[in-house]
Amino acid sequence: MFRKTLRNLTILNSLVFFLILVWLGGSLYGFIAYQLFDEVDDAMTDRLEAFRIAGGRPKMVFSHPVAFDPRIFLFVRDAGGRVANFYPVDNAEAAKEVAAGARAGKPQMRRTGDHVYRTRSLPYAGEERTLIRPEGAFAVQDIVAVAIVDTETALLRRMMIIILSVTAAGMLAVVVAGYFLAWRALVPIRTAWERQQQFVADASHELRTPLTVIKTNAELLLRYPGRTIEEESVRISNVVREANRMSRLVATLLTLARADAGQPELSREEVALGELVAAAAEQFGPLAERKGVALQAEAGDDVTLSADRERLQQLLVILLDNALKFTPAGGCIVVTCRRQAGQVLLTVADTGCGIPPADVPRIFDRFFRGDRARSRGEGGSGLGLAIARWIVESHRGKIRAESTAGAGTKIIVSLPVK
Ligand SMILES: Nc1ncnc2c1ncn2[C@@H]1O[C@H](COP(=O)(O)OP(=O)(O)OP(=O)(O)O)[C@@H](O)[C@H]1O
Ligand SMILES: [Mg+2]
Repeated sequence: MFRKTLRNLTILNSLVFFLILVWLGGSLYGFIAYQLFDEVDDAMTDRLEAFRIAGGRPKMVFSHPVAFDPRIFLFVRDAGGRVANFYPVDNAEAAKEVAAGARAGKPQMRRTGDHVYRTRSLPYAGEERTLIRPEGAFAVQDIVAVAIVDTETALLRRMMIIILSVTAAGMLAVVVAGYFLAWRALVPIRTAWERQQQFVADASHELRTPLTVIKTNAELLLRYPGRTIEEESVRISNVVREANRMSRLVATLLTLARADAGQPELSREEVALGELVAAAAEQFGPLAERKGVALQAEAGDDVTLSADRERLQQLLVILLDNALKFTPAGGCIVVTCRRQAGQVLLTVADTGCGIPPADVPRIFDRFFRGDRARSRGEGGSGLGLAIARWIVESHRGKIRAESTAGAGTKIIVSLPVK
């Protein structure tokens, strides 16, 4: 799928660049050609105008104060299409042939023999229409200027070669760069796609386990229809427990899916974090006591921030749940919150089993569980910290973990006050 997209993107990129290069090259070529021939055309027009003004008298034509270009020949033509040299008088046979074929209107180009010619003709309506030329008497119908434009065409040909080779080299670079850019652009998409694939696979796997338990228990119940509910209470409670686990999991997955879609808006209000911490500590107090873990909350009351109260409660529950889950009897959990340079710092530290260094960067990943076998026994699916990270990031905050395997873990959350 990505290979095809990569190819299509490369082709599209290259095509766009190719069109731009062609357009640039074409414009440059056109502009230079226009400039070059415009000068020649002006010189030819000067020569023709000089003839018209002088009424065909050679002396006057050549005393006209125009800087004459020696590459321009002037011919006269009669109604029958006969051509006579006007200037220079001889040595212009090839140009004469070209002049014979010149058409009125726009200047034309023609290649004959070794030269390239440009011609321009004007109808002549001067008073002295009859000229005596070596070819005989001429009733001038129109006058034709013929210029040798070898230099210009050679220059243009060289320009064309340069433009073509630059375009070709540019295209090669563009294809390589286009491929590289498309590849770079696809990296985050591919990563997101793979993560999503992984998420779906993990979610299906997590859902399959409770489903299997429910199915087996239900089948066992069906096998002995005569038994009472009391006799089958273990199986029924298995079904209920797994169904509960499943509905919790589905709710969590839904939260994450909505988070991915950017749907859930925060409903911000002024939240006294100290109070939230105290309430959470109170909620977890009995559980900690039962487990033989000391739970301590050190919260300054004045720590208020603009945040989503429910989400922050959820965050505290996730962090305290983990701390309690991974701290054995005799351990201790300390929750603190304080203000620090425009930030609110919330920490949950425990003296539990800790996290191996290699796992620390992965604990916020979805479905990551340090010790799969034990976590599942504790009812974990590895989504708690993924949700915690989403909550913190949606508040533009940061979350990180410091941990020493065997000695304890500290989760540090910093949230901006505003
Ligand atoms: N306080 C902690 N002490 C030691 N390990 C921890 C602690 N908090 C998190 N971990 C490690 O990080 C993993 C991921 O935690 P997370 O909260 O995302 O998942 P879980 O607790 O296993 O499952 P869930 O929160 O979905 O019930 C845990 O499985 C555990 O290995
Ligand atoms: Mg957890």
